[in-house]
Amino acid sequence: MLVELFRDAARACLPASPLTNLLLDSVADDLAESGPMTSVVCGLELGGAGSVPGLRFAAAVHHLVLSGRAPKLARHYPTAGGRLDPATFWPAARAAILAGSDGVRERATATAVQTNEPGRMAPCLGGLQVAAQEAARRVGRSTPFPIRLLEIGASGGLNLRPDRVALELDGTVVGDETSPLRLDPAWTGRPSADLSAELRIVERAGCDLHPSDPNTEEGRLHLSSFVWPDSLERWDRLQAALRLASTDPITVDRAAGPEWLADRLADLPADVLTVVWHSVVWQYVSARDRARGREILAEAAARATDRAPLALLVYESRRMPPGAPMPYRFDLLLRLWPSGLAGRLGTGGGHGIPFTWLG
Ligand SMILES: C[S@@+](CC[C@H](N)C(=O)[O-])C[C@H]1O[C@@H](n2cnc3c(N)ncnc32)[C@H](O)[C@@H]1O
Repeated sequence: MLVELFRDAARACLPASPLTNLLLDSVADDLAESGPMTSVVCGLELGGAGSVPGLRFAAAVHHLVLSGRAPKLARHYPTAGGRLDPATFWPAARAAILAGSDGVRERATATAVQTNEPGRMAPCLGGLQVAAQEAARRVGRSTPFPIRLLEIGASGGLNLRPDRVALELDGTVVGDETSPLRLDPAWTGRPSADLSAELRIVERAGCDLHPSDPNTEEGRLHLSSFVWPDSLERWDRLQAALRLASTDPITVDRAAGPEWLADRLADLPADVLTVVWHSVVWQYVSARDRARGREILAEAAARATDRAPLALLVYESRRMPPGAPMPYRFDLLLRLWPSGLAGRLGTGGGHGIPFTWLG
């Protein structure tokens, strides 16, 4: 099973990350021959396919490189100033992994996939504008609702600041022009909302089973290790999001989504749109937590009123039929209560960029 999981993860990294593809495919070859990688990765499959053992392993190796413990392998890692040489990569990686095998194994086993991807704030920002304006329009309010943003699976909390991002669109900047985080969202189409309207977030909070603190050296290293080492654009984006986080710290609560949400949704304040947001989390959530989360949301939705509305905004993967060019696509879905509005706002890449808005 692990061989197939590593091969699947290797395929899913292309075309963006030839390095991660080569790493995971080489490990799969080694496993198929019962080579020495077997003792490093055995048991990683116990979290199930959704826990993506290949990505946890690749991040553990990246962490080894970023923390300066594998200088020869670092020569292949662009995020450490190196350049991939496919002919000599695997012998260098194999040697470094075996030399640090306990640490790699421990890290890959202990961690969940913590890809806290700031690119996902672009569809989030567009979706929040649609939600705030649509909820206002439905009750005849002249200005969009201010937002109370609640994020499940927030990881390091980097995506809790969609109002602090500078989006580069049509040669102009939408959002916070002073932000260290500038995103070219590569949008096709536009959201059905006025993007020049102020996005007012009056409260923001997040929870995660394994929160990572971007205001510590180890937290930053941990979050950085999940960026594919040859995706320098994403690397720059993450470093900018970490700088933004340092100017405006937010503590992500260590909690499972349902219990946390039950507390946060106990009251729906008036004159504010409460938005529950999650991106690329659902595949990691247990069946029990999913069912409980749905119940809690349905119970809160039944209490939503015109003055105290509730929204669910999610950016999650959907498996495509066999033969499709990509195994997954990522949909931005919005539901609003009490109006009952529900629909897909658009579809994009796993990291939020590029993105296509539906009309
Ligand atoms: C791939 S990361 C995505 C992080 C962030 N949402 C983003 O898009 O950048 C998935 C996160 O979900 C968290 N997670 C998984 N199951 C959870 C649960 N039941 N409750 C809270 N967080 C959960 C993991 O710990 C991990 O940080």
